[in-house]
Amino acid sequence: MARRKLIAGNWKMNGNLAALAELQGIVDAAAANPKVDVAICPPFTLIAPAVAAQPALAIGAQDCHEKASGAHTGNISAAMLSEAGAKLVIVGHSERRADQFESDALVQAKAVAAIGAGLIAIVCVGETEAQRDAGEAIAIVTGQVRGSIPADATAEQLVVAYEPVWAIGTGRTPTVQDVADMHAAIRATLNETLGAAGPAVRILYGGSVKPDNARELLAVNDVDGALVGGASLTAAQFVPIIEGGAAVS
Ligand code: 13P
Repeated sequence: MARRKLIAGNWKMNGNLAALAELQGIVDAAAANPKVDVAICPPFTLIAPAVAAQPALAIGAQDCHEKASGAHTGNISAAMLSEAGAKLVIVGHSERRADQFESDALVQAKAVAAIGAGLIAIVCVGETEAQRDAGEAIAIVTGQVRGSIPADATAEQLVVAYEPVWAIGTGRTPTVQDVADMHAAIRATLNETLGAAGPAVRILYGGSVKPDNARELLAVNDVDGALVGGASLTAAQFVPIIEGGAAVS
């Protein structure tokens, strides 16, 4: 099944208004490479200014609350993100699973809320180094997929991102074979859980994706895009990743 690749940037807790100048080069690269989808997920406060500066670019958020509204100080609902102009939202990033103790059930509730507000949910999964060393990576990750995705999601509503925790921000990546094996296992789990929608759901790889390894990783079977942290902060680093995705599309 042909799936359009999605090259998404996660700015994490980085960036400011001045950094939005980087978006122009990214928008230009997106226009020059129409075979791939491109998105940037800046901090909450930059969503509306990013949308205003670059209306043609898909802007996303990095988290949402699972409830629509209420007494949840400091949290943001999916509808608020949508009103700010976001088109997608990352949920269940490993940094939130670790720092904010987010469980699979909570991540699933957030994905349901995101989809309910009309956003695309990018659900993140990934094993720790200890889990990989123990030979548990595939069991852990497929378990996270089962527990974190909404059972009735469609391929238009849901993206899964495989991000091995030990590869995030470290410059280390799994081997191409390990990525292929994991993405095949995730695909099988999506087919089992979502039925007919499973083959069309995009599975991104994330963890130290850089200009020099993007093309190789994006060429792997069932790798339908990349979720990029550090290298998404500048057009100079992110544009070659977009081009790498287009080259193998
Ligand atoms: P790096 O690309 O900086 O390793 O981050 C990956 C990531 O966590 C994206 O969500």
